[in-house]
Amino acid sequence: MNASNKIFIFNLLLQYNMRFSVMSIKGGVGKSTISILLSIELNRLGKRLILVDMDLSGYTSFLAGIREPGIFSSIVDGTLNRVESYRDIENIRIIKLAGDGPRTKLDVSKIRSNSTFLTQFQKAYLSAISIPHDYSIIDNFPLSSSMDEESRLEREIYTNVRNDICYSILVTDSSDFDLNETLVYSTYLRKNNDPCVPFALVTNMIPSSRKQALEKRIIELMNRINTHIGILIPFIDDLFEYNGPINGMPRLSQLAELAKIVVNESESRENVILSF
Ligand SMILES: Nc1ncnc2c1ncn2[C@@H]1O[C@H](COP(=O)(O)OP(=O)(O)OP(=O)(O)O)[C@@H](O)[C@H]1O
Ligand SMILES: [Mg+2]
Repeated sequence: MNASNKIFIFNLLLQYNMRFSVMSIKGGVGKSTISILLSIELNRLGKRLILVDMDLSGYTSFLAGIREPGIFSSIVDGTLNRVESYRDIENIRIIKLAGDGPRTKLDVSKIRSNSTFLTQFQKAYLSAISIPHDYSIIDNFPLSSSMDEESRLEREIYTNVRNDICYSILVTDSSDFDLNETLVYSTYLRKNNDPCVPFALVTNMIPSSRKQALEKRIIELMNRINTHIGILIPFIDDLFEYNGPINGMPRLSQLAELAKIVVNESESRENVILSF
């Protein structure tokens, strides 16, 4: 049993709740898609979710029907009370924190340096997350880390109300370059004491011709990243540039399986590959 396996089981025994931080080195590899589809699968198993949109593009919030600026930008604009910053779809609360493009970084630094903004943020985010939930999922921007100011702000509030353990889900495409860079990224996160324990490696949008050659490489990568769950997802035409409602998104059997692993700790003890 590897280290992350042990921590996973230890936390389950102690009944800590889990939060998942969906991360990648590169943009457009499917973080938002994975975040949404995993939320949907957990919800189908009767679980309540908070899905936090920390993406720059706000894709998740857009699919949830949120059309107004996120919490960070609304605070700086002074419009917080007039905009919809979260929405409930079945038992998934989608919270738009970022999602307003490159201005997010500047908004966050303004919030950090202005005590009125900071208090408003604390109140607004606390109120958004203050519902009973079983899991939270953070849909990040590329190359995110816990040292980023937006992650710090989010975590400061969240950890006030919940003692959850954070697990990272690393998403990559199947090119050799990105697989290698994902290892470099995960090493960087570990060296910088990122609080999220590696949980799963998702290789997304795999051309079917490449699948066989990939499996060995992915298992090797999983060992080095120290995660015991590897997920292989093909390129799916119906998912590409999907812009319908969240609950109409084509489902992925691999994420249905992952949701079962999350909910049922007994299935999590061995290395698993969820493939197609
Ligand atoms: N397995 C897949 N097959 C085909 N298209 C996919 C697949 N997964 C995601 N996509 C599509 O790829 C695009 C990028 O996906 P997504 O927005 O989830 O990536 P991201 O990593 O969140 O991007 P960003 O870094 O911009 O936040 C979207 O159009 C999405 O519909
Ligand atoms: Mg995204």
